[in-house]
Amino acid sequence: MTTLKSPLLILLLLLTFFSQSLAENCLSDTFSDSRVFSSCNSLSRLSAAIHWNYHPSNGTIDIAYRASQSSTGWVAWALNPTSHGMIGAQAFFAFTGSNGSMAIYLTGISSYAPVVQDGNLNFTVYSKEAEYSNGYMTIYATLELPGNSTTVNQVWEAGTSFSNGVPSGHALTGDNILSYGSIDFLSGATSSSGSSRQHRKNTHGVLSAVSWGILMPIGAITARYLKVFANPAWFYLHVACQCSAYIVGVAGWGTGLKLGSESSGVTYHSHRNIGIILFCLATVQVFALLLRPNKDHKYRIYWNAYHYLVGYAVIVLSIINIFKGFDILDPAKGWKNAYIAIIATLGGIALVLEAVTWVVVLKRKDRISTDKSSLNGANAIHSNGNMQSQNHQGV
Ligand SMILES: *[C@@H]1O[C@H](CO)[C@@H](O)[C@H](O)[C@H]1NC(C)=O
Ligand SMILES: *[C@@H]1O[C@H](CO)[C@@H](O)[C@H](O)[C@H]1NC(C)=O
Ligand SMILES: *[C@@H]1O[C@H](CO)[C@@H](O)[C@H](O)[C@H]1NC(C)=O
Ligand SMILES: *[C@@H]1O[C@H](CO)[C@@H](O)[C@H](O)[C@H]1NC(C)=O
Repeated sequence: MTTLKSPLLILLLLLTFFSQSLAENCLSDTFSDSRVFSSCNSLSRLSAAIHWNYHPSNGTIDIAYRASQSSTGWVAWALNPTSHGMIGAQAFFAFTGSNGSMAIYLTGISSYAPVVQDGNLNFTVYSKEAEYSNGYMTIYATLELPGNSTTVNQVWEAGTSFSNGVPSGHALTGDNILSYGSIDFLSGATSSSGSSRQHRKNTHGVLSAVSWGILMPIGAITARYLKVFANPAWFYLHVACQCSAYIVGVAGWGTGLKLGSESSGVTYHSHRNIGIILFCLATVQVFALLLRPNKDHKYRIYWNAYHYLVGYAVIVLSIINIFKGFDILDPAKGWKNAYIAIIATLGGIALVLEAVTWVVVLKRKDRISTDKSSLNGANAIHSNGNMQSQNHQGV
């Protein structure tokens, strides 16, 4: 009963996790003039969201910054190419102008008491527009990414004080002084301290590559090739290898889900879907161990077939997904090369062991058949054939 309950509990936890990450979401926002943005990110402060289209060919982005605000207040969104926070921010201010329609001013901020006036920013702005509708102000702009860099510091702000008809000052507490961080227009990731996210990316990459990408193939090699030489030790090695791979793998998978939920506007569909399939298959594989029929049970052959099939599928999908992950996280080339080298080595080892195993098995078969025994040696590699049941009944 407990074995049934724990997967159910995990499933429930996961469902809550998913629904929470979907709850506060920018994806449902729509825009005037049938503007469409391919990516978005809900910002954690001031009920705001940033939507954008990134054009790598010319290093520009179209953005829509939307924030909750009354028609008598102002909102601002800025990139800060040189620093964090307010000083150095290149800002777009949106507010109701003196003639009653929305005005948008561009101001570079170099002091804590800036004068908001319409000027130039130190990157090119191709177009700008502000809009007020139903309690939300929206800034639309097309701009050149400073230095053609997709990871930029952003700052956003809101206030209600004006002086001479232009925004002046905002609250100096709470969300108003925490509304800044970095944004990656390529991956969609935002963070208020870039390093913690990078740390999580690295953790996800390392945990996943080691567990799904290295330990699991080693576990499979153990099962397939040690059987002939080390019976029953192979079984315990195999179980130990796959169980630790599963535990570490689920930890890596969890950090992956967290990373995904933080960039709700950008989803790597195939990487995410393969990841979810992998988790399900591996979970089934681990719990199937408990349902394994006895060695001489007539259904044992079906269980074996299923176990091989799912096992190999997990390994193939894992390797595919790890390469997809390399493309997404884009770590230094050395990491990908190191992984390729490890997988190639494991593949080489498997090939050599395959050959050695066949030689050993055929020799044994020879010997056995000269002994006029009917044992089928080759069968011993593939299934738990007679040879094993003789040697080790329990496994
Ligand atoms: C940048 O490129 C996109 C297409 O990739 C195009 O739609 C857009 O007009 C270009 N912007 C500028 C400012 O040239
Ligand atoms: C900006 O960077 C992208 C990718 O790094 C590159 O493909 C593109 O040519 C660059 N654009 C400009 C205008 O430098
Ligand atoms: C209102 O003022 C803005 C500048 O603040 C100007 O761009 C716009 O054309 C004006 N609209 C009307 C209807 O005068
Ligand atoms: C951009 O403008 C800010 C002030 O608005 C200034 O401090 C900074 O040096 C400028 N950067 C460049 C690269 O011109």
